[in-house]
Parts: sequence; C-alpha cells; structure tokens
Amino acid sequence: NGTETAAMIAAHNLLKKFYHHLLIHTKEGQVALDYLLSRGFTREIIDQFEIGYALNSWDAATKFLASKGFSLQLMEKAGLVSKKEEDGSYFDRFRNRIMFPIHNHQGETVAFSGRIVGSGEPKYVNSPETSIFNKRKILYHFHEARLHIRQKQQAVLFEGFADVIAAVRAGIHHAVATMGTALSEEQARTIRRNAESVIICYDGDRAGVDATLRAAEMLAEAGCYVKVATMPEGLDPDDYVRQYGPERFKADVIDASISLTAFKLNYLKKGRNLQDESERLRYIEDAVKEISQLNNAIEVDHYLRQLANEFSISFDVLREQIKSYERTRK
Ligand code: UTP
Ligand code: MN
Ligand code: MN
Ligand code: MN
Ligand code: MN
Repeated sequence: NGTETAAMIAAHNLLKKFYHHLLIHTKEGQVALDYLLSRGFTREIIDQFEIGYALNSWDAATKFLASKGFSLQLMEKAGLVSKKEEDGSYFDRFRNRIMFPIHNHQGETVAFSGRIVGSGEPKYVNSPETSIFNKRKILYHFHEARLHIRQKQQAVLFEGFADVIAAVRAGIHHAVATMGTALSEEQARTIRRNAESVIICYDGDRAGVDATLRAAEMLAEAGCYVKVATMPEGLDPDDYVRQYGPERFKADVIDASISLTAFKLNYLKKGRNLQDESERLRYIEDAVKEISQLNNAIEVDHYLRQLANEFSISFDVLREQIKSYERTRK
C-alpha cells in the first residue's frame, strides 16, 4: 500500500530530525553528545550521518509523532513503538540511546539503530523487520556510497556504523556495512552489480575472521574479486582510526589489503611455530592444499612459487605435491 509506505517513511524522516535536534540542542542530549565527541565523532560527522538521541522516556517519540498526525497503528507497523502485552498500550522502542538512521538504497529513512550511551547490553537496539526495512537487502551507507563504488569499481565492506563513519573520516567514501549480521546473497549481488572488487574489513577478532571467510565465499560466488584488509588483533576499524589516525588507516590497512588467498595462507600460520621443523612442514602442506582449491592456473603458479621462495623448497616438488590434491578437490 503506497500511502502507508509513504507515511512510514515520513514518520522516520521527522523522527530522525527530532532525534538529531535532541542530541545537538538539548540539555538531555548532552551526555550522549559528549560521549560521541569523546569517541572522535566531530560535529560535522554527526550532521553528515544525521546522528541523534532518543530521550530517556517511554512516550517522547510516540507523542511527537502523534502531534504530527501519525496513528499508533502506523507507528507500530513502522517498528517505532512496541505494544505492552498486559494492557495493549504502546511505548517508544528507542529510549536513552544514540540514534543512527538507516537509509534504504534510494536514500529514504526506513529504520534506526540505537546505541547505548557508554557501555551496557544490548549495545545496539535495531528496528524490527518491517514492510520498508528488509535487513537482508539493505547495506548501511549504500545510498551515499553508490556513486563512489561505481566510480572506483570497488566497495569496502565493514561490520558496523562506527567503522563506516571512521572510514569516511579517512576519505574512504565507498564504504558500506552489513550491520553485524552475516552478509546475505542479496547484499553480495548488490555489491557485484556496482563493483568488480570488494575489500572486506571486518573486526580483528575471532568472529570477524570467521565472518570474513563466509562473506568472501558469498562475494566470490556473486562474481566479485575479493580482497581482505587485516586488522591487528583486538581492534576494529573504528578503534584503529582512533588509535593511529585516518591516514595510517588508509595507507596501512585499506591500501595494504591482500588477496583472499594470501589472507587464508596467513591465517593458516596463526598459532604455529614456523621455526619448528615439523610444524613448518605441516604448514606448507596445508598451504599447498589451500592453493589447490584455486580455479585459476596462473594464481596456482603464483602462490606455489611464492611458497617455494618463502621456505626455500623446490617449486617442482610443490607442483608434484599439488597434483595429488587437485585430483581430489571439491
Ligand atoms: P560490534 O560489536 O563490532 O559493534 O558490532 P561496533 O560497531 O564496534 O560498535 P561500537 O564501536 O562499540 O559502537 C558490529 C555491528 O553489529 C551490529 C551493529 O550494526 C554494529 O555496528 N550490532 C552489534 C547489533 O545490531 N546489535 C548489537 O547488540 C551489537
Ligand atoms: Mn543520508
Ligand atoms: Mn564485531
Ligand atoms: Mn566492532
Ligand atoms: Mn567499534
């Protein structure tokens, strides 16, 4: 229903401006604003990303939207209010949170994510799935990044809001995020339709590495050339920018991204002592197995030569070894 869709989007738009106003111009928003500034968000960035603040109230957003003529039914459909089980009354979904508006790929505001001010659980509360917010389809910041992605024929993929915002501060405008969930097939196809290659830049923790491998699979399946930007252990892109600055993030992380195969080969080294002869030999064997999975003969040759050089083994022996895996490969 077109009228209803338009009204849901209009409600998001008005509320986005209301939240932004509360953050910037009110006493109630001061703690949230100070928190953002202490994290390195500038006033300019806060305006650009239309970040806001939801009051610590059960009905501030409900009253605001009602005063603009929206019905409770519509607010509920839009995911902006929740219903109490006991008496059927409504209350604001987002309370005392820093608000990130989420746009669809046309640039319309269709959802929010609210971050706790400081630490606590849950860290983010998100809009529910609605008729205007399909989580599997939407990439955060895509509407702003699309032209940059097309021009560069490349996208940089992050986990979260703060990472995209940090990237933009570093001049990386072709940045989008999955908002914490696994990359979907639809999202992978969207990226492929707009770019040939993608750099995955997920958090430097176990979850980030696992998600990188899964996203890489999806993106390669969709036909993208995949590169990986590796984070130091324990840091995410936003932490990195705060710690080392935007210039180093661009130069040492994004511009230093490596091929997916190189990333996997590095990953195989983790937790192994390569000074130890038998561990070294097992690494080489695993590396050859990994290389045998490649479909491209030129790449196979390239990585085998690299491996031969790195460990001073004969290239011919590695060639011989890989044949036994190639016969059994998936
Ligand atoms: P992270 O836990 O890495 O958070 O989740 P973050 O982005 O680094 O958050 P900051 O820097 O502490 O503010 C990555 C993304 O996963 C989603 C959010 O989109 C977040 O940006 N997420 C995370 C949720 O939806 N809910 C949560 O409770 C946590
Ligand atoms: Mn916008
Ligand atoms: Mn994370
Ligand atoms: Mn993170
Ligand atoms: Mn973070």
